[in-house]
Formats: sequence, C-alpha cells, structure tokens
Amino acid sequence: MNDSDLKKRIRRLKKCPWKEQPFSKQNWGIWMHSISSYVGRIKPAFAHFLIKELTTEGQVVLDPFCGIGTIPLELDQLNRKFIGNDLNPYAVLISKSKFDRRGVDEEINFLNQINLKKEPIPDLESVPMWVKEYFHKKTLVEILQLKEILIKNERNFLYGCLLGILHGHRPQHLSIRTGYIIPYIPNPKPKKEYREVIPRMISKASRMYKDEVSLDVQGKILQEDSRKLSLKTNSVNNVISSPPYYHTLDYVHSNRLRLWLCDQNDHQQEELTTNLIQQRSTYLDQMYLVGREMKRVLKKDGLLVFILGDVHLSPSKSLNTAEDIADLYEKIGFKKVDIINDQIPASKTTIVKYGGTNSIQKKKEKLDRVLIMRNV
Ligand SMILES: C[S@@+](CC[C@H](N)C(=O)[O-])C[C@H]1O[C@@H](n2cnc3c(N)ncnc32)[C@H](O)[C@@H]1O
Repeated sequence: MNDSDLKKRIRRLKKCPWKEQPFSKQNWGIWMHSISSYVGRIKPAFAHFLIKELTTEGQVVLDPFCGIGTIPLELDQLNRKFIGNDLNPYAVLISKSKFDRRGVDEEINFLNQINLKKEPIPDLESVPMWVKEYFHKKTLVEILQLKEILIKNERNFLYGCLLGILHGHRPQHLSIRTGYIIPYIPNPKPKKEYREVIPRMISKASRMYKDEVSLDVQGKILQEDSRKLSLKTNSVNNVISSPPYYHTLDYVHSNRLRLWLCDQNDHQQEELTTNLIQQRSTYLDQMYLVGREMKRVLKKDGLLVFILGDVHLSPSKSLNTAEDIADLYEKIGFKKVDIINDQIPASKTTIVKYGGTNSIQKKKEKLDRVLIMRNV
C-alpha cells in the first residue's frame, strides 16, 4: 500500500465508519464473537474497518495481544491469514475455540452422547472454597465432569462454550446470579440453584453457529510472550492489535473464575499477573521490547496499528499512550503515519481501574486512539 493510498484510507477511517448503522449496533458481528466475555475486548466493527482499510486479502496479519480473538476472527472473516497471540490461558482458549470448527450438528451429536451420570465423581475437596461459593454442588460436579471429557477429546469450541456460560446473570449461566464479565457476588448473596449443564451447552453451541462460518480456517493462535515470539523474522505483513495500556485493566483477577476452570491455580494466577504487561511503572520499558519484536517479525513497509486508550490519572491529568508509544517506536525504526481519535461515550465503556490503584471508579467517557506506524 503506497503512501497516497494509505492517506485516502486513513481519511475514510477518520470518519469512524463503525459508528454508522448497522455497525454501531452493540451486537454487530457474527455470533462466534460472543462465545465468552473479556474485559477490554474491542468491538468487532472497529476491528472490521481497521482490517478492511489497512490490510489486503491474503496478507498475514499478527495480533500479538489478541485477548479472546476479536481481531483474528474479523481477519478470518475478511480472508486474511491471522496469527493471534496472548499470554493469558483463558483468553487463548477462547480464541482457539472460535477456530475449532466442526459444524453445529457435530457438536450437538457429541454433547448428546455424553451421559454425565456414568462419569466418575470428581474430587471436590481440591476445589477452592471461593469457587464453591458460585455453584450448586450438583452443577459443580457436572462442570468438572464435562471439562475432563472436553480436554480428553480436544474439543476447544465446546470448552470455550463452557467457559462462556460459567458465570453470569441469566438462566443460561451455571453460577449463582453474578456479573457476566466480572463475577462479582451481589449482596445479599443469591441462592444456589441446580443448573443442568448439558442442555445449556447444547443451546449455547447452537447459538454460536447461528451465522454460517467457514470450516476452513487460515491461521493460528499462540500462547507466547509478545516480547519474544517464535515467529520467523520478516514473516508478517501487518500488525493490528489492542495492547494493554499502562495499568487500566487487570486481565487476571477479573477472569479469576474462568482461569480456575482453565486449571490455573491461585499461585499460577499470581505468576501470570507478574508476567503480563500491566504494571504502570515498567509499562514503557516492556512495550519497547514488544516494539523490537514487532520490528523483527514485520516485513519492510509493513504497518503496525495499535489501538490505545488515554489513561486518566486524575480529573485533570491524563496520559496519552499512543503518543508515548509513537515516540518510543520512532527510536526502533518505525515511522509515525497518523493517529486516529475515537471518542467512546461513557455509556459504552466498561468499568475502568485508574492509575494502577485498586479503586474501581465509575464509568467515564473514554478516548481510544489508533496509532498507525510504518516499518521503514
Ligand atoms: C486490551 S487486551 C486485548 C483484547 C482483545 N483485542 C480482544 O478483543 O479480546 C490486552 C491483552 O494483552 C495480553 N497481554 C499482556 N501482556 C502480554 C504479553 N507479555 N504477551 C502476550 N499477551 C499479553 C493480556 O492478556 C490481554 O489479553
């Protein structure tokens, strides 16, 4: 893509087409996007336009911080070859589940053949007390039995569905009534009711296949540190990603329950917290290492597109993450092309943790910026 073509495309993006109907609808995008929730997930329509304008069909596009795979899934929909990567085992599982395509009939047949009554009773002694708070004992037994079967049979799509219905506030969810994105236990604590797992799984799997998707997938999901990837040098055409910014979200604690179902015990979760880039004091140093790795894997003239939000430290003080990263990456050998601003109204944002403290504050208007750089 030459400079004048790129300029035209950026002009179109600056009109924020994802804010026009039908793209502005909360649930725009195929059903597969909603296998499970995640703090900091980006909107599929936003990813759709960035991919459409800034990459071309058949290109290899890397998302080094793919979370639950929103960008890889849109890349796949738009016939690009995707490489998604994340260090969080829960996020990786959901990303993988979106590409474990066997068709709905296959999945439902598989579920219908399961008879949990004949499965061994799992040892509930080893389940942490805080986990037991969320479930009726009979439901918990069924969840653990099904999980074993899914792992043994490498059924990532169904494992993703199980994680997706693990907690929430609707009858389709398996826990007591709690948050869907973050499992807060309300006060007073709701009553534990038995929720039969298999029928809920069948209806979840059927919903996810409501839109037709190709069974042929062109890409892969990795679970690696984006500061050191196993990818070959000069192997990627473009990078599109929404990296963490400073310390706004905690990708471990908000997914604590789902990480437990991904076999991550408390100790492993603490370790993951340390390994993820989410400490404000070291943020720019760590992102520098990411930049060097992107420089290595990207082909010459490839684009690096990062969606980054401003961080509000106090009502009068904000950090402009996109400008900070642009300055840093100019030193590595990237050239800043442009920054697109996208104002997100308070009603559309999730709760944000400010300034690296533990205080949870109210919803606030948010500014996302799309930083576009070229590997020169
Ligand atoms: C803003 S989220 C990405 C959300 C994603 N675009 C989506 O829609 O689901 C940032 C991600 O960076 C991941 N992350 C943080 N440090 C990482 C590292 N060193 N290597 C790989 N992933 C990392 C976190 O686990 C988190 O999923």
